[in-house]
Amino acid sequence: MARHLITSAIPYINGIKHLGNLVGSQLPADLYARYLRARGHEVMFICATDEHGTPAELAAKKAGLPVAEYCAQMHATQARLAEGFGLSFDHYGRSSSPQNHRLTQHFAGRLADAGLIREVTEKQIYSNADGRFLPDRYIEGTCPNCGYDKARGDQCENCTKQLDPTDLIEPRSAISGSTDLEVRETKHLYLRQSALKDQIAEWIDSKTDWPLLTTSIARKWLNDGDGLQDRGITRDLDWGIPVKRGDAEWPGMEGKVFYVWFDAPIEYIAATAEWADATGGDWQRWWRTDKGAEDVTYTQFMGKDNVPFHTLSFPATIMGSGEPWKLVDYIKSFNYLTYDGGQFSTSQGRGVFMDHALEILPADYWRWWLLSHAPESGDSEFTWENFQQSVNKDLADVLGNFVSRITKFCRSKFGETVPEAGEPGAAEAELEAALQARLTAYEQFMDAMEIRKAAGELRAIWVLGNEYLQAAAPWATFKEDEARAAMQVRTGLNLIALYAVISAPFIPFAAKTMREAMDAPGEWPSSAADALRALPPGHGFTVPDNLFTKITDEQRESWAERFKGVRA
Ligand code: 2FM
Ligand code: ZN
Repeated sequence: MARHLITSAIPYINGIKHLGNLVGSQLPADLYARYLRARGHEVMFICATDEHGTPAELAAKKAGLPVAEYCAQMHATQARLAEGFGLSFDHYGRSSSPQNHRLTQHFAGRLADAGLIREVTEKQIYSNADGRFLPDRYIEGTCPNCGYDKARGDQCENCTKQLDPTDLIEPRSAISGSTDLEVRETKHLYLRQSALKDQIAEWIDSKTDWPLLTTSIARKWLNDGDGLQDRGITRDLDWGIPVKRGDAEWPGMEGKVFYVWFDAPIEYIAATAEWADATGGDWQRWWRTDKGAEDVTYTQFMGKDNVPFHTLSFPATIMGSGEPWKLVDYIKSFNYLTYDGGQFSTSQGRGVFMDHALEILPADYWRWWLLSHAPESGDSEFTWENFQQSVNKDLADVLGNFVSRITKFCRSKFGETVPEAGEPGAAEAELEAALQARLTAYEQFMDAMEIRKAAGELRAIWVLGNEYLQAAAPWATFKEDEARAAMQVRTGLNLIALYAVISAPFIPFAAKTMREAMDAPGEWPSSAADALRALPPGHGFTVPDNLFTKITDEQRESWAERFKGVRA
């Protein structure tokens, strides 16, 4: 048994997330957390809402609410949707928590003590029309790196380069569109990332097992141009964590807050502290290598746009503190999910969002499609045809149908208990061998977080059951050899108990239905042989409700129509 800390990138508070956000971090992180728990490991799975920054302020303004109240409401909404999707966080925190205020100020103080913070008087863009400084993403303009004309002041979406607002060519206010911008002087704190460049480069170089998507993005920003740049970590905003040096005031920084990307990753730690405060647990044994975390394996999940912050900026904060905090051991990053030939877009309301998804179908249907099509090696595309086909074939025809046929046949011929008669023969030995090979492959892919490949093995394991049932045909066998039919049915019932356990990381709700119907022990099988004998003769079960309903062509067409435009 090992100890695993798992974090998902924390979603912005300003609105309900779409399926592309979900599959880019929270859902695969949940898959891995569920799998590791099922294998008997101790898991701490953390997520939170990312509540600071201008987007939160503007969304609150639009909703006509004070920003703190807006965040509290939206956090509750996001938490409810996360639960609806079966996301099994040990804690779903809030980056605006007092714990995060304390820890963020603590890190800033440590970095300052280590000489890694410098004060910079800089010229910043002030919008006369909006009556405020325009931070990072609220200035739009042309990217100096690639020429994309809708680059934001914090990052270019097109080439992923981290930017400063003043880098943009032909800047305009993203709030009002006004070009009546002027440059004013303001003082800010910069984290001297450049001083940590060699240490970070060495650390990245040591991560030879990381996915190429992760390391290539990290290396690009370490080595391109001038290399790792110092980074402003404060902003002229009202909403955020007040700039302090530990517990002390920071002269000259009154009225300013930390930059949202400085405090957001610290919330991974703070959310664990929130969990500890709520449960009486010990968060330091997950995060401090001097307090028990030396044997923790820490895995982060995120979309590719988040990689620079997690491979460079957050490690700079951690390393620069000079304290024994746990650094990430493995970063699993994702490409983008596209929607019907275009992009999912929160600002434009394009695609399917978490609330609407659950209105039309149960979580498992989405979980299965999203995970089995996770954008791992490249972008992947959601289409309604593909979704309908996967659900109908994999879930309804292959898995659902198998469960229903076996349980109903058993009930009609032998009653609702596992039948005793008959000895397994050649066909069962063959099934067992095939199952063992697939099970081993499935475990290897899950251990390696190769999600699509793992889904492929799981599907193949369901198919094995169907093929066995088709060939064994207990309904025909029954007429000549009742004992043999009993053995075949017993084999089938045991397969359902196995499916209940191994499918749970992907489709936890259907898995629970199977497990309860079979009254199955629910432990991860030590081998295919054991799995096929897990339910002893005489063990009672019930016929579960239909696990999955097929998506009709009419439904598909009406959803495609409903979700083709922008979110209402
Ligand atoms: O891209 C996003 O959705 C960010 N809110 C992710 C932050 S992850 C971390 F830093 F906490
Ligand atoms: Zn660019």
